[in-house]
Amino acid sequence: MVRPKQSIQSHRKDEHVFLAEKFHEEMRQNDFDGLRFIHQSLPEIAIADVDISTQFGPNHWDSPFYINGMTGGSQQTKKINAQLAQVAQITGLPMATGSQSVAVKDPSLVDTFTIIREYNPEGFVLGNIGAGNDLAVAQQAVAMTNANALEIHVNTTQEIVMPEGDRQFYWLDQIAEIVDQLTVPVIVKEVGFGMSAETMAQLQSIGVQAIDISGRGGTNFVTIENERRHDKAYDYLEGWGQSTVESLFESQGFQNDLTILASGGIRNPLDVIKALRLGATAVGVSGQFLHMILKDGPTVTAEKLLAWQAQIQAIMAMLGVHNLTELKQAPLIVSPELRHYLNERHLT
Ligand code: FNR
Repeated sequence: MVRPKQSIQSHRKDEHVFLAEKFHEEMRQNDFDGLRFIHQSLPEIAIADVDISTQFGPNHWDSPFYINGMTGGSQQTKKINAQLAQVAQITGLPMATGSQSVAVKDPSLVDTFTIIREYNPEGFVLGNIGAGNDLAVAQQAVAMTNANALEIHVNTTQEIVMPEGDRQFYWLDQIAEIVDQLTVPVIVKEVGFGMSAETMAQLQSIGVQAIDISGRGGTNFVTIENERRHDKAYDYLEGWGQSTVESLFESQGFQNDLTILASGGIRNPLDVIKALRLGATAVGVSGQFLHMILKDGPTVTAEKLLAWQAQIQAIMAMLGVHNLTELKQAPLIVSPELRHYLNERHLT
């Protein structure tokens, strides 16, 4: 059988997985290392009394972390979507797909996304499209997987380093229309470069209610897209953007009005707890879960993620907090570098 030639967009999905895994380092240092909880020797609590669930708008999530957007759009990433959906089904974790606009343009790729519903018909699914797509694309993306929410990614840095990337970034009007018209909640997300308070104010002004600040510290799309370039012209840009911790600091003034989700560089349950402590409603994980799925397959990955849930509950008990609201008051020390960031940005 002669396979139809893979489009640039579809091939790119395979390259992203290959390069994300190539550059993945198990315990890469990041800004979460600059945060320390204060140990409490007498927490007066039982692990079973700790509730790790969270509330995303009207939706109750049993787990405060979720599988963030990565795959679909090629035959190889269809398999990964199927495996991630199995993990989501076993663990009850919410799961986002990778960008679906490729399948809106090319219907032969629709099954690389709809496969997740075969394995996880009832689970909470977040669809995903890029900014710059219109309302019709957003509606088709949601309908494709019967999604419960839609992620719209804003990724200027990635587009600029990507040889075939977009060169125009007039995005707000279309995002505003989608937020206004779509029947499911919309999350505007970065892809690992973090967000500033200025960006959050822009999003708030057009009615956005949920933001994933997706910061620096894990998967780095400058490294990935630069590797895809023949001239490797952008290696000096690898430190671009705010880290996830810095972006959570930036979100301080918005946390009462907006739902702030955090992702970027989450390596373990303690990172999840630190992000929740800094005000995240829930925490997304991509690179680390991709690595587990590729290395261990779905059954073992699901076991590991059930262990993450148990460990989050245990560590919260160690801190003496009963739920995510109490966690937000747990004493925390920040490193001199992070203190400097807070000072420079006039935050506390
Ligand atoms: C991504 N990410 C991503 N984000 C998005 O909104 N749409 C997408 O299609 C993709 N595709 C994608 C592919 C692969 C292989 C990876 C690893 C990541 C970005 C992702 O959702 C997240 O924002 C960043 O990866 C930062 O989180 P981690 O990987 O450091 O946990």
